[in-house]
This record gives sequence, structure tokens and C-alpha cells, in this order.
Amino acid sequence: MNKRFLLSAGLMATLSLAAQNNTATITVKVDEGKQIIPKEIYGQFAEHLGTCIYGGLWVGENSSIPNTNGYRTDVFNALKALKVPVLRWPGGCFADEYHWMDGIGPKAQRPKMVNTNWGGTVEDNSFGTHEFLNLCEMLGTEPYISGNVGSGSVEELAKWVEYMTADGESPMANLRRENGRDKPWKVKYLGVGNESWGCGGNMRPEYYADLYRRYSTYCRNFGNNRLFKVASGASDYDYNWTEVLMQQVGNRMNGLSLHFYSVINWNSKGSATEFSADDYYRALGKCRDIDELLKRHIAIMDRYDPRKRIALLLDEWGTWWDQEPGSTPGHLYQQNTMRDAFVASLSLDIFHKYTDRLKMANIAQIVNVLQSMILTNAQGGMVLTPTYHVFRMYNVHQDATYLPLDLTCMQTPVAASDWTVPMVSATASKDKAGKIHISLSNIDLDAAQEITIRLQGANVTKVSGEILTAGNIADHNTFEQPNAVAPKAFNGAKISKGTLTVTVPAKSIVALELN
Ligand code: AHR
Repeated sequence: MNKRFLLSAGLMATLSLAAQNNTATITVKVDEGKQIIPKEIYGQFAEHLGTCIYGGLWVGENSSIPNTNGYRTDVFNALKALKVPVLRWPGGCFADEYHWMDGIGPKAQRPKMVNTNWGGTVEDNSFGTHEFLNLCEMLGTEPYISGNVGSGSVEELAKWVEYMTADGESPMANLRRENGRDKPWKVKYLGVGNESWGCGGNMRPEYYADLYRRYSTYCRNFGNNRLFKVASGASDYDYNWTEVLMQQVGNRMNGLSLHFYSVINWNSKGSATEFSADDYYRALGKCRDIDELLKRHIAIMDRYDPRKRIALLLDEWGTWWDQEPGSTPGHLYQQNTMRDAFVASLSLDIFHKYTDRLKMANIAQIVNVLQSMILTNAQGGMVLTPTYHVFRMYNVHQDATYLPLDLTCMQTPVAASDWTVPMVSATASKDKAGKIHISLSNIDLDAAQEITIRLQGANVTKVSGEILTAGNIADHNTFEQPNAVAPKAFNGAKISKGTLTVTVPAKSIVALELN
């Protein structure tokens, strides 16, 4: 590796002063904070895929693995600590083949189906609407239901909404009562289809726009429940999809989704745990593409909706590596290293900048699938991934006031690509108690970064912190060594005359709290 540059306020200049290597300066504009970072930016996604639901979240009441009413107790407790604000379910591609009536009533009588999207696994429907919505209630999480448009009907979706949310006398509310739930659940987010351009029906945007209008008409607000209806949005760089939906659906939708996975080559995604330094920097270059992508989708939305009434929801994002050796094909089980932790921290830093339009993001997925928070095995083992630790360290930003910042740091060109990546990424917010939180990532594999931080408009005297780092960038947690990568107390920050100086070691993520 390669020639490095100084990046300042978006402009690059070739650096000649060796003394400036591995230094960065940040000005946090504490006096300019206005925008709230919605907690839903820290959303999660749970699909009937591999062992996300069965074996991950749910083992059933009769399992020898400790559980609370069928939910794995260890996983439940870890998720509670994470503060999951919103959980999207039941898919993904699975959602457009899911018939919700198969997942209610006595478990022994629920029909089985084949999960054709994900490995042909037999789905016994023992985890259905009640099991999902009760889990959300227990976790204090907002449910986000993804409805079947691809292979379902308007009537089926309308009845599902009624079943979940109707409070009075109605056929579906009565059926719910027969199945043991008297009061309706509160369900805010309703996705009308998923990836309707692909596994959700291979539609053209014009056709889907009409279908959205039709389906959403019959998804009613019952009692005090108010639905926030989300139209199935674009994949990655498909700006035309966003254009057509904004033009032809407009304010009939409350939100429009977007999906982006950090994959460079879908035919050869690369190993989750065996990669070179160049592969690592390339993965970060790709993940940072989300910045430009968000800007361009948002610019389209701004033209039709300058008052920003329609939200953008990035309801699937994250890493997607080759199938883990020895794992079941089609189950998308993958390990999670410090590289994934950086994809998470860099992505979250970017999301914070766009929260006047971006109101939700759901990493894929919560347990045992893709860039998961948690990995479990059938023997009762559980590990928290490096990505879990980033989400836990960052949860202080949920519903806090976003503080804009200027960052000047070295950046490096990425081999065999057009990307350059800054060595330092940062974000800051002020919470409701007045504490300032700054998250810093030093992506450099080799060198520490000396970071000088000026807090414009604030007078702080105390700093404490946590650090997530590892000896090697490919380090990860296993059932044998569950704490190989785990946060530790951080003492590398000093305050003097209102200026903060921080030494962030190579390949480290640091969370600072200031007051
Ligand atoms: O998250 C895995 C899959 O990725 C989802 O089912 C689908 O929506 C996307 O293509």
C-alpha cells in the first residue's frame, strides 16, 4: 500500500509533509446540531432464512436450550441490551411467498411449506404472527411487517392488518381472540411487497406503482393504530425505480425503501474470514458507495417532495460473503470479522448525515444470516459478533441530536478500483442528557492516528471511552473463543483547554463520551 493523501472538507491535496502522516483533525459543531438521528437507523431484519428464526431467535418451548416461551433466552437478553428499535419480518424474498394464515392457530395444525428461496428448507410455520409480535413487545421493539404482494392478494394483506390491529368486533379480530390474543398489537410499519423488481415479482416500476396504490388502499387504520406504509424501493443504483415511484405514487406512501449490499462481484463475493489487505480496503471502498447512492436517491425524492414528507428507508444493507465452508447452501450463514465491524461503523457514520430524509436502516440480518449481530449453534452456543459490538457502542446515538463535523485526514487509493478511502471516519451527537458522543474509526491496518478534536460551542471537562480492536483484521469470535473481539475501556483521550486529543490505534473503533 500505496500513496496517501490529505483529505479536507471533500477536497484532496497531495501531501508532502511527512509530519502530517497519521494525523487527523476534527471540528465538531456542537452549536449547529438540529437534526435528530432516528433510533430506527439502528433497525434490524429477521427473515425465515437459514437459522435466523429457527435456532436463532426461536427454539420452541420444548427445547433443551434455555428459552423463555420458546425464545432463546441468551439471544433475547443480548438483543435487549442492544436496544433494537425496529425489527423487519418475515422477509426479504420469503415475505412474497408467505401466507400469514398458515402461521396462526394451534401449532400442530399449521401447514408446512417449502422455503423455495432459501435452500428448500421445510418451514413448519411454528413461528408466526403471534410469536413475532409478542417478541417485539417483549423487546420493546417496533414491528415492521413485510407484506406479500408478489404471490398474495389484496384481501390477504388487508385481513392480516385487520387481524393484527383491529380492536372492535370484526371477523379477523375475533379470530385473533380465538387464538389467544385479546388486545390488538400496535403495528406501525407495513411494507407493501419486497424487492418487487426481483424476487418479489419481477415487476416493472410502473406496474408495481399501480399495485402499490391498489394494495395500500385496503390496508386500513383500525382504532388508534396508524400504519406507516412503505413502498418496495430500488436496488442499489436503480435511480429510475425511485423516479417512477415518486412520480406515480408520491404521497400515497409514507416511505420508500432501498436495498444496498456491500458486494463487489456477485459471482465471487469472497471469503468472510480469509482476505488480503487490498480486499479489506476494497470492501470499505464499496461500503462507502452508499454515501453517493443515498445522495442521488435523495436528490430525486427532493424534486418531488421538497418538504421531505416521504421517508427513505434503507431496509436491507450490510456485507454478503461467500457461503461459509461447511454451512448449508442457501442459508447465508457467514462469519463476521473486524472488517465487518468497520463496514458497520463507516455505514452508520454516513447514515447519520442524511437523517433529514433517511428515517430507517435495517442491517441484514439479526441472527445467523449475513452480517448478523449474533451467531448461535444447535448445542446452545452463542457469540456476539464484532458488528454487534459496534451497534452496542453506537446505540448512544439513537434519538440524539446529530452534530455536524469537519474532518481532515489522510486517505488512500484502493488497489484495482476508482475508490479512495479516508483513514478516519467519525460521527458525533448530543444525547437528551446533554452528553456528547463521538465515534471514531481508524481503518488503517498499520498505524495509529493522532486525532485532534475541537468542540465548537461546547465546554467539556471529562472524557471516557471504549475501544473495539483486534490483533488481525480477520479476527472474529467463535464458539470456542467468544470474546476474541470485544470492547474494552479506552484511556487514549485527553482534554486540555477544551481540545481533545485522541490516539486511536490501528484498526480500531473508539466511542467517546464527553461532558
Ligand atoms: O437478506 C437476504 C435477501 O436479500 C432478502 O431476502 C432479499 O430481500 C435480498 O435480496
